[in-house]
Amino acid sequence: KGGYDLVVVSNRLPVDFTVDEDGGVQWQRSPGGLVTALEPVMQEADGAWVGWSGAPDLDHEPFEADDMLLVPVALSASDIERYYEGFANDTLWPLYHDVISPPTYHRQWWDAYRRVNQRFAEAAAAQAAHGAVVWVHDYQLQLVPKMLRDLRPDLRIGFFNHIPFPAVELFQQLPWRTQIVEGLLGADLIGFQRGGDASNFVRSVRRLTRHTTRGPIISVSDDDGGPGRRVRAAAFPISIDSRHFDELARTPEVQARAKEIRADLGDPTVMMLGVDRLDYTKGIRHRIKAYGEILQDGRLDVEHCTLVQVASPSRENVGAYQELREHVEGAVGRINGEFGELGHSAIHYLHHSYPPEEMAALYLAADVMLVTSLRDGMNLVAKEYIAARSDERGVLVLSEFTGAADELAPGPLLVNPHDIDGMKDIIVTAARMDPREQRRRMRRLRRKVMADDVAKWSQSFLGVLTAMPPRTTHV
Ligand code: G6P
Repeated sequence: KGGYDLVVVSNRLPVDFTVDEDGGVQWQRSPGGLVTALEPVMQEADGAWVGWSGAPDLDHEPFEADDMLLVPVALSASDIERYYEGFANDTLWPLYHDVISPPTYHRQWWDAYRRVNQRFAEAAAAQAAHGAVVWVHDYQLQLVPKMLRDLRPDLRIGFFNHIPFPAVELFQQLPWRTQIVEGLLGADLIGFQRGGDASNFVRSVRRLTRHTTRGPIISVSDDDGGPGRRVRAAAFPISIDSRHFDELARTPEVQARAKEIRADLGDPTVMMLGVDRLDYTKGIRHRIKAYGEILQDGRLDVEHCTLVQVASPSRENVGAYQELREHVEGAVGRINGEFGELGHSAIHYLHHSYPPEEMAALYLAADVMLVTSLRDGMNLVAKEYIAARSDERGVLVLSEFTGAADELAPGPLLVNPHDIDGMKDIIVTAARMDPREQRRRMRRLRRKVMADDVAKWSQSFLGVLTAMPPRTTHV
């Protein structure tokens, strides 16, 4: 077989592995949005997916699953520490989220990032048919496009960045900024969540390299100043499998579970909900502070109102995440201690992740959804909440600093999470919004989210990528 026509490369494979007692490997499909989006295209195109298993030192042969080839890339404990926890999540993640937490710059981490990116590039090169399309995902793998092009100039390469791309004034802190930009420019098409992210990237190209740009088109000259390639940088806002969420939330089981959740909470007049990975970019601290002050001011009370905060465990070996957890859990404890009553907690804090059915029931139960990120590439929780609300009820409070705000306004109640007083007013407004106004807003939100789903997103990215002129075109 001459290889696969479509190869997807992402840090994690869309399956969870477990190693049983005799060392046998079991895997289970993980329910991410990306896999649902790409599954149909992969099945049609004869696809392979290259990624990490999520476990240390798990060296496994490629295997067929759900009509695609899964190609595990093994990471050692030291790779995980330096490449994944270090460079990806303690350098790039905070830098790309506007340095909310200070990034750490470590030369050893950078070396590991380069080495691991090279392994991903080699694994992809080994699977791709001649002239295949390779789609590389996210900040963990920004060097892969150039590494792959050097190995396989025949390929058509796309890259999509799922998180923000920072302003050049911040990006230029990175000691390896030029290598990262050149790494990305190995792609033919570079996708971002928002127009603002794409223009931040183009500005970085202008400031840090000698390549020329015209609007979204970058002319990449080779080292001897010879004729170059054209690279396009543009926005492709990601979405969710909207229909699936809508249908899930309409099932009798989920509807019954939503009622049960409300009953378990003592049938509050207003149930507020936050759903996030426990990450400092999500503004969980700001949200909890605002909520505590609202109770303190007596504008809402625990007999009528409660906040359910789902905080799913994430990147628990990274210091900033450990600090955040301590802070959040301390704040929740203080607020519950001060304002809670027997049978009425102020905040129900759940440090777990839940399957989609339970998430849909929570969305359906919640009168107010709080998404208060300090910076967020898109925020799919906001879209899931909307897709679950075919009853056209519920209010979305949404941070201005999310990609979703760019797409969904007007419709949500927009907040600046740094402005605690402003956010308090908006949360109270949301809690008191009458059903007619809720319906008017939710209808508008649903029109958008139901129409622009993740299948449309992947088709539009792959459509632009495959329609680009062949790679030999000179500019
Ligand atoms: C964000 C990133 C993804 C990442 C996910 C979960 O959404 O854009 O690339 O997979 O967070 O984080 P984790 O570090 O657990 O993969």
